[in-house]
Amino acid sequence: MISSLKNIFITGTDTGVGKSIFSALLAISLHNEGKKVCISKPIQTGFPKDTDFLKELTGNKIPIFNTYSFSLPAAPIISAEHENKKIDLEKIILDIRNLEKEFDCVIVEGIGGVAVPITDHVIARSPLMADDEAISKTLRDCRIGASASPHNDTYLVADLIKDLNYPVIIVSRSSLGTINHSVLTIEFAKQKDLNILGFIVSAYDETLNDPVIKTAPDVISKLTKVKCLMKIPLVKKLSFESLNSLAEKFATLKYVC
Ligand SMILES: Nc1ncnc2c1ncn2[C@@H]1O[C@H](COP(=O)(O)OP(=O)(O)OP(=O)(O)O)[C@@H](O)[C@H]1O
Ligand SMILES: [Mg+2]
Repeated sequence: MISSLKNIFITGTDTGVGKSIFSALLAISLHNEGKKVCISKPIQTGFPKDTDFLKELTGNKIPIFNTYSFSLPAAPIISAEHENKKIDLEKIILDIRNLEKEFDCVIVEGIGGVAVPITDHVIARSPLMADDEAISKTLRDCRIGASASPHNDTYLVADLIKDLNYPVIIVSRSSLGTINHSVLTIEFAKQKDLNILGFIVSAYDETLNDPVIKTAPDVISKLTKVKCLMKIPLVKKLSFESLNSLAEKFATLKYVC
């Protein structure tokens, strides 16, 4: 149930599938239940910035955090390289661990999907930080690289989910192609031994009466044995007000986690 939800990672079958919309909806719902909740978008690339979109969708009622922003709209490994910068995984995980101390619930919005590369610089902790016992303990708890990615030593979003040790929800499109994308994403997440709570279908337009849209969630569940937790309707005008009324209307959201 939502009241027992602590922290959660929201990933998707692709970029632009509705991760921010679901993250905002879940955050508003938890906030309305009296929880102290925040959203972290640890890495964002391109414009407009996801953090701005999240602030807009949550009516500035939910604190939104970010560790890295890059201008090139691409996978983090490419966007960082483009600016001659390196992504420090320890910093990302420490930033999130610090949020856990302050908030009842931390919602982490992923970057694209589970196989998106973040960095191939999986560096051991810095000697400077290791001198500090408290920090080095936190870093040990981070378990960076524990998932031992077989993907040419490249650290993927799935490895971050594993290292954070967060349960994950996958956001899928409702349109044609979603069965393939969803099944591949779920099977990859299983291969990475992630704790999958279920998947969400976004922009689900029931009024279309389209057999492709109507049957997809059940087909995905049957093929993967993973539950469809929710179908987010197609929201005509995306705003805090529309998501807030959705959060109220969708009592089922309480049972998502
Ligand atoms: N339930 C919905 N109702 C209306 N539009 C939707 C819905 N879900 C997704 N969309 C459309 O998809 C777009 C992308 O949604 P969103 O920004 O949440 O995706 P994302 O997965 O967070 O993308 P990114 O990978 O850039 O973070 C929205 O701006 C909107 O146009
Ligand atoms: Mg987003």
